[in-house]
Amino acid sequence: MKAIVWTKYGPPDVLQLQEVEKPTPKDNEVLIRIIATTVTAGDCEQRSLKLPFWLALPMRAYVGLERPRRITILGMECAGEIEAVGPDVKRFRPGDQVFAATGFVDMGPCAEYICLAEEPDQGALAIKPVNITYEQAAAVPVGGLEALHFLRLGNAQSGQKVLINGAGGTIGTFAVQLAKYFGAEVTAVDSTEKLDLLRSIGADQVIDYTRGDFTTSGQTYDIIFDVVGKSPFSRSVRSLEQNGRYLIANPGVSQMIRGRWTSMISSKKVICGAASPKTEDILLLKELIEAGRLKSVIDRRYPLEQTAEAHRYVEKGHKKGHVVITVVPSDKTQEPASISGNR
Ligand SMILES: NC(=O)c1ccc[n+]([C@@H]2O[C@H](COP(=O)([O-])OP(=O)(O)OC[C@H]3O[C@@H](n4cnc5c(N)ncnc54)[C@H](OP(=O)(O)O)[C@@H]3O)[C@@H](O)[C@H]2O)c1
Repeated sequence: MKAIVWTKYGPPDVLQLQEVEKPTPKDNEVLIRIIATTVTAGDCEQRSLKLPFWLALPMRAYVGLERPRRITILGMECAGEIEAVGPDVKRFRPGDQVFAATGFVDMGPCAEYICLAEEPDQGALAIKPVNITYEQAAAVPVGGLEALHFLRLGNAQSGQKVLINGAGGTIGTFAVQLAKYFGAEVTAVDSTEKLDLLRSIGADQVIDYTRGDFTTSGQTYDIIFDVVGKSPFSRSVRSLEQNGRYLIANPGVSQMIRGRWTSMISSKKVICGAASPKTEDILLLKELIEAGRLKSVIDRRYPLEQTAEAHRYVEKGHKKGHVVITVVPSDKTQEPASISGNR
């Protein structure tokens, strides 16, 4: 099969299109013919190992000291069709249309096929929402599951004021919509070009971080969700209501230490950490999408062969929502023409 192989740590050129052996499902696994996957900021950070040192060291130790060995194909989410199932698989059968968060697996979804456990250790697998394309479905799991995880940690509720910092990307576009689903009043912070998009997906207020600083406006919030990890720590804590929660998806060491201290000495809580996706969560996302409450926002699409180009674009940091890799073009799938290729 064709795959984009991660040959070294470094710039996008280290990603090479190669022929590799098609995987065979184990007893508890399904074989998915991938139709679409994505490139996220997390994929670019992993490729180049540009991560905080507390993450870069264990990552290098796990993946390979000199070059990637244990993980050879990148990517963390996909949508496609099940081609074969192992004898112990109960929930799926060949022909099922699925979407998945894959977690960190040896051979990720930047390829024509992937094998995933029916219940992946670090991921989640479910039948894809019926009302969206494979491309749209591929862009749901990582951002949707992360946003859901953090907003639950923040105990997001109706009537609360929630601010999302870095709202226009993979996690943020879902965080805005899910916070609205929980009934919150949402303020979304990002750069000028993304503000119309943020209003269109439900943000009540928008702030352009290139022109203003939410921590100096005098406004306070029940939840500040810093997706991008760039909000000033002390001023963000001061911008919380009593018992407010400051959620950081991309924390540095200093934020983690100061966060722990702040949580010990005040009524405000600082919460860092990563999601561990669950089947029931991806099923909730599917339900919300089918009910028209949630959607993925696709900025650009690239064919599998141009994955390195997609990484170059994502690395600039200015994508709106998601960048999709189309492994099989929609005219070669069974999708109804009316929804194929929609945003
Ligand atoms: N904790 C976890 O479990 C977890 C899981 C997945 C990802 N992450 C990490 O979370 C981070 C964000 O992920 P993502 O995929 O959502 O990234 P993304 O798609 O690149 O979105 C980040 C957004 O933040 C905006 N931004 C940049 N600087 C900003 C600033 N100073 N203030 C406000 N907004 C700013 C960017 O827009 P402009 O560049 O146009 O300004 C962009 O729209 C990544 O570092 C990723 O590795 C954490």
